[in-house]
Amino acid sequence: MLKSPSLAILTFASQVVCWGGLGHRTVGYLAQKRFTNEGAELFETLIRPTTSFDISDAAVWADSIRHNRGYTEGWHFIDAKDSPPEQCNLNYARDCKEIQGCVISAISNQTSLLLDPNTNQHTRNEALKYLLHFIGDIHQPLHTEDLSRGGNDIPVSFDGHHTQRLNLHSVWDSAIPRKLNGLSFDAHATEEKPAAAIWAEKLAKRIEAGELSVEYSECTNLADPNECGIAWATETNVLVCAYVLAPGVEWVKENDLGGEYYEGAVPLVEVQIARAGVRLAAWVNAIAAAGSVAAKQDL
Ligand SMILES: *[C@@H]1O[C@H](CO)[C@@H](O)[C@H](O)[C@H]1NC(C)=O
Repeated sequence: MLKSPSLAILTFASQVVCWGGLGHRTVGYLAQKRFTNEGAELFETLIRPTTSFDISDAAVWADSIRHNRGYTEGWHFIDAKDSPPEQCNLNYARDCKEIQGCVISAISNQTSLLLDPNTNQHTRNEALKYLLHFIGDIHQPLHTEDLSRGGNDIPVSFDGHHTQRLNLHSVWDSAIPRKLNGLSFDAHATEEKPAAAIWAEKLAKRIEAGELSVEYSECTNLADPNECGIAWATETNVLVCAYVLAPGVEWVKENDLGGEYYEGAVPLVEVQIARAGVRLAAWVNAIAAAGSVAAKQDL
């Protein structure tokens, strides 16, 4: 039986932006496992009363509103104007757009709003949802790269698929995480939520067992949120030269990326998702702790 090609394209089109539902949802579930009581309470009091969202739904919310709120478009990435694969580097002053902002300034802004006791509940609710999403985005290598719109304009093939929507960016957002978790290339988006819960469980176990040998560096300098954002984005951007575009643009266009390239990408994707989850949890826990200190001082 043939699947309707138009449906497949539509499904895929809805996830060409940002890690894809699977990656973002996994970052959310993984973070939740590491929440302190205060961190969990912040999520419960800000998000749960207004919706039936679980943390993974909250982590994909920013993608669902980005087209209706064009001004948020630039908050999902930072366009490092470097020259991969020869040279990667990120420069906040050079790369963060003055008016639209970037993922680093967006994390700072939403963090400040959440820390400010005068911010209303509605804005605080959205600020937390933005953070759940952007701390995921800042760990996707092609969200820290300007070249060919972060790879969106580099058409590629993956496991014999060569659709109009398939490009280097969407391979890193969706195709690699999906294959890694046993979802078919054009699996429906609803299959991502249960898969994300399982992936988060696996990653959490491996982190605990010390099997994911990475430096997690839980940066939590809330006084200067840009500092952590710059550190994370700089580290992510290194991967663009180290792996993502290392073989050169022509090579990634001409070779199917579902084979050896995929195999080499898997450990990087796992580490990036793990880092995002661990750092997101530490960030939310720090905000929650600062809030409860402020609340106690008010008494
Ligand atoms: C900060 O976030 C608020 C709420 O989302 C938004 O209205 C404002 O434009 C943002 N400011 C900057 C500089 O991004």
